[in-house]
Formats: sequence, C-alpha cells, structure tokens
Amino acid sequence: LKHNGLKEIKAAEGMDAVKKIKVSLLGKKGPITNVLRGMKDLAPEERPQVGKMANILRDELTKAIDAKTKELEAALLQQKLASEAIDVTLPGTQVTEGNPHIITQVITQIEELFLGMGFQVVDGPEIEEDHYNFEMLNLPKDHPARDMQDTFYITPNILMRTQTSPVQARTMEKHDFTKGPLKMISPGKVYRRDNDDATHSHQFHQVEGLVIDKHITMADLKGTLALVAQTVFGAERKIRLRPSYFPFTEPSCEVDVSCFKCGGAGCAVCKQTGWIEVLGAGMVHPNVLKMAGVDPEVYGGFAFGLGPDRFAMLKYGVDDIRQFYLNDVRFLKQFAQKG
Ligand code: PHE
Repeated sequence: LKHNGLKEIKAAEGMDAVKKIKVSLLGKKGPITNVLRGMKDLAPEERPQVGKMANILRDELTKAIDAKTKELEAALLQQKLASEAIDVTLPGTQVTEGNPHIITQVITQIEELFLGMGFQVVDGPEIEEDHYNFEMLNLPKDHPARDMQDTFYITPNILMRTQTSPVQARTMEKHDFTKGPLKMISPGKVYRRDNDDATHSHQFHQVEGLVIDKHITMADLKGTLALVAQTVFGAERKIRLRPSYFPFTEPSCEVDVSCFKCGGAGCAVCKQTGWIEVLGAGMVHPNVLKMAGVDPEVYGGFAFGLGPDRFAMLKYGVDDIRQFYLNDVRFLKQFAQKG
C-alpha cells in the first residue's frame, strides 16, 4: 500500500489528481481508515502494533501529499509569472488622455483668482425655490422684471434656477457677520427657456460674486472686475461700467471689456465701439440685505454675475455657444492644456 501510494502521488499530474488520491488513500472509505476501523476485530495484543503501523503509514502518505501539493503550487506560480512577464522593451500603447472642458477651464481660472483673494467658493442647487431665485432677490411674484428671465417652472414654487444669484441669498442668510465679512463666488449651471441658436442656450453657466462688509464701494467692484478681465483676457484689458438695471442691485451696471484679438487665426472680437459687454453687476439692494437679515444701515456690498460661456467664446473665438454642449471631441481637443 505504501509503495503504491507513494508512486501514485509522485506520478500525479495536477492538483485535481492529488486531491483524488488523497481521498482514495486517506478518506473515510480508504484502506487506512478501514484498517483502523477493523481494529476491534483484532486480538487485543495485535492492536497496538497494527495501530502504530497504520498511523505511521498515514503520516507518511500525508507528508508525501503535502509535498506534492507544494511542488504543484510552485510550478503553477512559475507558470503564472512567466505568462504575465512584461517585456519592457516592446513599444507601449498610447493612452489617450482627456482634458478639462473649456468652460471648466475658465471657471477654474476664475476660482483660483478669487480663492487667492480669500473668497469662498459656494455651491447651490440647480433645482431652486422661487423664493430664492426671485423673491429674496427683490423680485416678488408680480414683478415685471421676471420677464427678463424666461423660466422653466417645475411647480409654481419650484424651478430650474435662471441665475446663480439665489446662492447669494442663501449664503447671506446663513452668514454670521460678527465673525467677519462675506466674500464668495458661486459657479454653476443655469437654465432659461430660450430657443437654442448660436448665441442662446437653454442651459449655460454663471459665476456669481458677492462681497458684503462695512464700507464697500463701487470702486471695490470695479477693481475686482478689472482683475477678472485681466486674468481671463490678458493684462492689457480695461473695463468700463455702463448704467443698467437689475432688481437686486442699485445702482446696477453692465460691464464691458476693451476689445481684443482672441485666440484663433484671424479672430477678432472688436466691435466698432471698441468695447464688448461681458457681465452684469451692481451694489446689493437694501431690500435684498434686509430680506436676508442683514442691516443695510451697517452693511453693504457688491454683486456680479458673469457668464463663463461668453468668456470662453470671446477668449477663444468660438462663434457658436452650442459647440460647448455637443461634446464633439474634435472641438474639445483643441483646448487641451499642455504640460
Ligand atoms: N443675475 C444676473 C443675471 O443673470 C446677473 C447679476 C448678478 C447682476 C449679480 C447683478 C448682480 O442677469
């Protein structure tokens, strides 16, 4: 039995064979178990002898099986390593790398500028309450200026936000002014019921900005916006403020950037006036402050809302806003950042 057993183990090819042999030799129905089971039929004086022999045999066979198992495992590992070996001298496959969307790039640039000036970047919901999108911004239900923004309503009180300004109201309401001024920007998507064409998209982006403190003036607003224009469009840019109207700011202004040549070949965004409009802004209306629980006799500030889509179009000479949303890789790839 011993001789045959060892021979079988040695000759076994593969783990399955070893397992089978183990069962047949050492299993419940195997010869050794049989012998041990038959002990009761032996003469008492024979028992220790037979028992000892059976145990020794079982140990030897077990050892042989374990050794064989280890040997097979080692061989398997070798095989696996050999099959997975990498030939580092072979030419590699090119990995195609994506790049941030051009709108994301503009937003990131603006975020970095403002983070550097100690502003916080705040997020707000795209599905917004009428209360924050309009009412808290001095636009009650019957206000005619609501027509300025064609709105996607979900229910009479819930809508797709038409602007990032509701984040102003939300943040102001929560801010503890005893702890210091409020300086924030809020980038994000906004929605309007427009027919899409080269200059209109039912979904686009805005970056809201808000500063509330004591003694903030229009000069602070102008200085801040000049920095934005110079950061995004180049150091030689100038800005000018034209009077305008927004219900949540008083006075309000529209801001133009001095004309310039943009990225692509032959691309120039110079209108005859030499100026191009890029954003809306103003000094926060006392009603807006009051509604957010801020005392307009003590605190005041400025707000602005700019459009990264517009910025990107001007900066890179993109003549159709829909390009940003088609996700045509040939378009997107042109704005890969190098290095
Ligand atoms: N929310 C305004 C718009 O979407 C822009 C704006 C923001 C104007 C803040 C003034 C102050 O048109």
